[in-house]
Amino acid sequence: MAGQCVCVSDFEEQARKVLPKAVYDYYCSGADEQKTLADNVAAFSRWYLVPRVLRDVSTVDLSVSVLGQKLSMPLCVGATAMQRMAHPEGETATARACKAVGTGMMLSSWATSTIEEVIATTTSLESGGVLWMQLYIYKDRELTLSLVRRAEKAGYKAIFVTVDTPYLGKRLDDMRNRFKMPPHLSLSNFSTASLAFSEGNYGNDSGLAVYVAKAIDPAICWDDITWLKRNTHLPVIVKGILNGEDALQAVRYGVNGILVSNHGARQLDGVPATLDVLEEVVTAVQGCCDVYMDGGVRRGTDVLKALALGAKAVFIGRPVLWGLACQGEQGVTEILELLKEELRLAMALSGCRSVAEVSRSLVRRMEFTSR
Ligand code: FNR
Repeated sequence: MAGQCVCVSDFEEQARKVLPKAVYDYYCSGADEQKTLADNVAAFSRWYLVPRVLRDVSTVDLSVSVLGQKLSMPLCVGATAMQRMAHPEGETATARACKAVGTGMMLSSWATSTIEEVIATTTSLESGGVLWMQLYIYKDRELTLSLVRRAEKAGYKAIFVTVDTPYLGKRLDDMRNRFKMPPHLSLSNFSTASLAFSEGNYGNDSGLAVYVAKAIDPAICWDDITWLKRNTHLPVIVKGILNGEDALQAVRYGVNGILVSNHGARQLDGVPATLDVLEEVVTAVQGCCDVYMDGGVRRGTDVLKALALGAKAVFIGRPVLWGLACQGEQGVTEILELLKEELRLAMALSGCRSVAEVSRSLVRRMEFTSR
């Protein structure tokens, strides 16, 4: 099936056909009116690429180093929850695909596979790749730290702490669908029904919104970054920064990286597209830490534009779920290879032989003229 897909939106169309409606809606939705959801994608069209020519692009090196790990390309897989709703092998299939392609995967705290089984599924495979852990800070701090310790022990290489979810954004389709997980699945890293999101009844609301309100700490603040750093030897990256001031604050608190993200437009609607605030963040941190971005990346040219605006690497969320729904591990591999080849072509056609040669002068913002 995925063989007929030649771009990310082809995969999405196929995925929509095979997924149950409530699952597709959960994966696809943004918050409220979904203005930011559309804008995350549209923002890439507001920037032109300005190519250079006659530069011998017969070989193009896409490799990059992210948090001390060599990856085959500057495109990694971001945390998306509950991947076994898309395919029975869920996160384990995604992890194998990432390893085969030689890129990094961020595992969600809300995975439907355990921290240990996801890393174990990749150990026999050759090739590169790396796993990072995404962390939600629970009201129960010991529980939160137990996730960190398990990730450390298993061999994950960094903690991406999500800072944009004190409450869950208002996702209308999930409310209409009274979204909850199919009964055979649970958030595998937790042992009680209440923490594993597998209680029978969440009332008339989105079940996940009820879960977050119960379990996730809305009181987290900058001191919790200090607390987290004190309690792990792994690099800590804050996920969900959208402006220069918070970025600077993150640097002051000693983070190892910043992920410019609006959570795939699923939290606060009406915030800017991530591409539009990337440069502000990059400028603010003045090279003190690496800056990454996610949100709306659907093409190789999108990756190139984000790199030109200062991202060290980008992450994708939904495209991986579409690949997974279409064809499990093979589908995710195809999505990653497709984007990798698109990026290679975009770099070659822009005159860039390596990621280091991608510079700010490669992009120009479209000027709007009023008539
Ligand atoms: C997410 N995202 C997310 N982020 C996070 O920190 N923890 C999580 O568990 C999840 N879960 C999740 C589920 C689904 C279905 C989606 C679509 C997104 C946000 C994710 O990490 C990332 O920021 C966005 O998905 C990036 O945007 P695109 O590529 O989906 O447009």
